[in-house]
Amino acid sequence: MIFTVAIDGPAAAGKGTISKAVAAQFGFAHLDTGLLYRAVGAKVLAGVDPVAAAQALDPHDLEDDSLRTPAVAQAASEIAVIAEVRSALVAFQRNFATRDGGAVLDGRDIGTVICPDASVKLFVTASAERRAERRFNELAAKGMKIAYDQVLTDVKTRDARDRNRAEAPLVAADDAVEIDTSDMTIEQAIDAAIEAVRSGLGAQ
Ligand code: CDP
Repeated sequence: MIFTVAIDGPAAAGKGTISKAVAAQFGFAHLDTGLLYRAVGAKVLAGVDPVAAAQALDPHDLEDDSLRTPAVAQAASEIAVIAEVRSALVAFQRNFATRDGGAVLDGRDIGTVICPDASVKLFVTASAERRAERRFNELAAKGMKIAYDQVLTDVKTRDARDRNRAEAPLVAADDAVEIDTSDMTIEQAIDAAIEAVRSGLGAQ
């Protein structure tokens, strides 16, 4: 069975947590496509050319905990504006999306560019302040020392760059179900996503 769930939205909106829960609930595979851009960003910080890094990307490069730092997130959003970087990553994402047994992909352009025919599309948002608060708590739990104001600025900078780029900008697909998680608990957000996927499966 090919069944693709596309989950897009701005930085730290909860896409990762929701994607993992949806994948676990329905037995689908999950790809956090932000990791592809983070892995390229990390290589660029180490001095590699961005296009060469994207073309040579190995799935093992995604299994690196250091990809979760704010510095790598910023580098990721900087290289994510480059058309040749994005096109080098398309085939891997589409192959993953069409694997047998169902797949959840989360990112910025899954419902619009990578999988415009996805079975279910979700657009997960929250206010910049709520997202920064959640990301701040995540980073603090990992022992990273960073000020809340810095996290908020980082989130806003990345959002603006992601929304305003020419190539695959961050925007909700016309047929996406929007979930604003500003005033939801994570359980409520997960329930809303599972409900949308269940009704998509029912419509098949
Ligand atoms: O986890 P968080 O939402 O903070 O970020 P991420 O999903 O890991 O993505 C890091 C950066 O990669 C984003 O700010 C985007 O610039 C870029 N990205 C993208 O352009 N397209 C995607 N499908 C996924 C991420």
